[in-house]
Amino acid sequence: MAELIDGKKISTDIKDELKEEVSKLKAEGREVTLAVILVGDDPASAVYVKNKKKACEYIGIKSLSYELPAETTEDELLELIEKLNGDDTVNGILVQLPLPRHIDEKKVIRTISPKKDVDGFHPENVGALLIGEPGFVSCTPAGIIELLKRSNVEIEGKECVVIGRSNIVGKPMGVLLLRENGTVTIAHSRTKNLKEICKRADILVAAVGKPKMITAEYIKEGAVVIDVGIHRMDNGKLCGDVDLDDVESHVSKITPVPGGVGPMTIAMLMYNCIASVRG
Ligand code: GUN
Repeated sequence: MAELIDGKKISTDIKDELKEEVSKLKAEGREVTLAVILVGDDPASAVYVKNKKKACEYIGIKSLSYELPAETTEDELLELIEKLNGDDTVNGILVQLPLPRHIDEKKVIRTISPKKDVDGFHPENVGALLIGEPGFVSCTPAGIIELLKRSNVEIEGKECVVIGRSNIVGKPMGVLLLRENGTVTIAHSRTKNLKEICKRADILVAAVGKPKMITAEYIKEGAVVIDVGIHRMDNGKLCGDVDLDDVESHVSKITPVPGGVGPMTIAMLMYNCIASVRG
């Protein structure tokens, strides 16, 4: 029977460790402050931002909230980011994605100071990750590495298959697994023989974006499966990219949805905020 990797519990452990860090910083007279910017009224984004602010409150990080209307111009947003870049009391800046279509996301990401880019999206941080230099790492893949380590899953020498090549998850995930000495394959929508490739994986990370696409046919007996997807089904329940019921008897460990990867993303964001103060 598969062991469920409890992301909620592990993320709470991390947040409790970080809470202590923040207390120590406060004792040194240093406060941690995160500026959170939300543009428009995407309901999913509003929930994510609410959860990020809640985590800040739990840990003792001050959050500054900027909730801007959908009509906000690109220049107005860039101006706010520049202002926060120059504000020494602000340690981290997070612009919730996606942005309304009239705003150039890449330009926005490049405008955030790399030293305050707690999402790890700035090209300077992405480049640093690739060449193994210090910098902020994208929170979801960083959280997955933490989940694997804290669940005693060895990565070194293992066949790791990542399905998905996004800038936020797939690509940095591949680099992080490589940094841990995994043998990495990044598969994607144009990959041929996807099932065969996935079936080689000791560690399979599914970030496909399709509900329950990954069935037992994709799984090697005893594999560790990390499910990054989150989808709302017609019955109102959440599910991932992996069909949990179908694969459960074939895997050794698997993350549930919800309660797997999701809470880890926020814990790592909090980690990055504190790192930005410690320098
Ligand atoms: N939208 C979806 N995931 C993320 C994330 O990790 N950070 C930000 N800023 N926006 C997102």
